[in-house]
Amino acid sequence: MRFVVTGGAGFIGSHIVDSLAGLGNDVIIFDNFISGRKENIAHLKENKKIKVIHGSITDLAILRAACESADGIFHEAAIASVQQSLQNPLRTHETNATGTLNVLLAARDAGVKKIVSASSAAVYGDNPILPKHEEMIPEPLSPYAVSKITGEYYCSVFSRLYGLKTVSLRYFNVYGPRQDPRSEYSGVISKFIMQAILGKPITIYGDGEQTRDFIFIDDVVTANIHAMERDVQGIFNIASGRETSLNKLEELVTSVSGTKVPVIYEPPRSGDIRKSLADISRARKRLGFEPEYTITKGLEHTISALR
Ligand code: UD1
Repeated sequence: MRFVVTGGAGFIGSHIVDSLAGLGNDVIIFDNFISGRKENIAHLKENKKIKVIHGSITDLAILRAACESADGIFHEAAIASVQQSLQNPLRTHETNATGTLNVLLAARDAGVKKIVSASSAAVYGDNPILPKHEEMIPEPLSPYAVSKITGEYYCSVFSRLYGLKTVSLRYFNVYGPRQDPRSEYSGVISKFIMQAILGKPITIYGDGEQTRDFIFIDDVVTANIHAMERDVQGIFNIASGRETSLNKLEELVTSVSGTKVPVIYEPPRSGDIRKSLADISRARKRLGFEPEYTITKGLEHTISALR
């Protein structure tokens, strides 16, 4: 089959491309190479079934060309940082909300059968009820969260109005090899690991008792493939179903990497969520999703890759 992966050179997208390529599919990697990186897809250079299109999802004309004769789209392209959205809400909206609308329009007009789209646990906000389940009313706390719930609404409307099959996967905190640790907006696990490896202090924003539900990249890829293959639509939490505090994460990173570095506490970030834990029963039941990686096993893989 033929698939388009938007954000296909990024952290999550490039792992989805690997899985699709391994199954013998034709794949179009669609990426603007702002957070996507050539190194993430360099190993696929010789594969004649993989094509790279350098373009942005904010450009509908290039998207249309990319989606011609595609069977399905994995939509991973986004500005993935909550903090960046506070600084530039319009840019996050254009990429994440308008960009998703563009992907849906291109898909609809090209007769694509299904889209699996990346959404986020950020849409739940700070509702104190845990674990978060898909029926809860969204309470976005950042422009990023607004942009992601908007993308979900567009998916469900396109499914109702135009018969395009859509799935939105609410990723919780995804980590693993190829997550870039070098920006101030990077995911916390990649940052902690890099700091531990380099012997630099680890920074915790707030008291470190905020929690996240961390999920290893390979489990996220499996969820995507199941979401495309199975006859399902709608919204699914993709997470481990386990809660880890930032203080505990720091302990785990230093013990698994065998390092000891100082910890610096700084004021909490605005727009930050306090507690995050997913109910994954819907994904278990309808996607056949079962996370395989414990946090320790996932950290071992990530640390050895970053080293
Ligand atoms: C992350 C994702 C976002 C996803 C969401 C789903 C990234 C960059 N963002 O947002 O795309 O939609 O999960 O829940 O992967 N922290 C520190 N020290 C640091 C860096 C972060 O203490 O050096 C703290 C933050 O304040 C926050 C937690 O770690 O409390 C997680 O932060 P981060 O990895 O940036 O992700 P989220 O904001 O949860």
